[in-house]
Amino acid sequence: MAAEVISGTEISKQVRAEVTEEVTLLKSQHNLVPGLAVILVGDDPASAVYVRNKGRACDEAGIFSESFNLPAETPESELVDLVKKLNADPKFHGILVQLPLPKHIDEKAVLYAVDPNKDVDGLHPFNLGRLMAGDPIFVPCTPAGVQEMLMRTGHDPSGKHVVVCGRSNIVGKPVAMLLLQKMAGANATVSICHTGTADLGAITRQADILIAAVGKAEFITADMVKEGTVVIDVGINRIDDASKKNGYRLTGDVDYGPVSEVASAITPVPGGVGPMTIAMLLKNTLASARRSVSA
Ligand code: GUN
Repeated sequence: MAAEVISGTEISKQVRAEVTEEVTLLKSQHNLVPGLAVILVGDDPASAVYVRNKGRACDEAGIFSESFNLPAETPESELVDLVKKLNADPKFHGILVQLPLPKHIDEKAVLYAVDPNKDVDGLHPFNLGRLMAGDPIFVPCTPAGVQEMLMRTGHDPSGKHVVVCGRSNIVGKPVAMLLLQKMAGANATVSICHTGTADLGAITRQADILIAAVGKAEFITADMVKEGTVVIDVGINRIDDASKKNGYRLTGDVDYGPVSEVASAITPVPGGVGPMTIAMLLKNTLASARRSVSA
């Protein structure tokens, strides 16, 4: 039987509507407009699209946003100086540095410069540490989006075996840590697989919930998935497609057609995890603005 399609497009609309309502409330009760600064360095076309989409989503939710577009050759020190300036600017409750950064810039030096109180991306070690300690403030947006999708579609991870493929700091490690916590929406048994994992399929076939975050197009094939698994595809890969006007199409890390024949539920690409990441960014920015009122 074909799997239930978990629509990130639909769920993100609900989340964004909720955020919009709460932003209106914050304005009327505290005369406060949440603000987000987005920094983009260089001209990677995919990153430019993501940044534009984040700006539009902010507009629709009533969140003030400003994007800072810097040339690819910007020195690291200049970027860090901009982050410090934004840290001190009360208009902004959130600061996001779009990744990846150009090769000459040390990503850690920049991410660590963001004030943890404005780190709505949840990538500063303070926030990653708080997540690990079971007392999170800002959870990275994609992991938070994955959890939200599972919970809003009745796929509570509690007591389930979640297998995460990928160990990036932005998705694999934090999503594993998030779903491991002894708290509502989590409490799973978690395995993390990576490029060093021997016999990957033997582990992925044990998953009740399989999260693919490897960054390789259609890497998870049907033979790696147990009947009835819930499959969450975090990948967004561009592959050449001469039949498309722009010359490419987007595909996930999961071989969608065949896997949807064995899975009980699956997220599509596009229209799955991607829109959830943006919705959770808005939610974190709202939360940060609220924290600034009570601080
Ligand atoms: N690049 C791809 N996804 C993300 C994200 O969630 N945050 C940031 N900062 N960069 C990204």
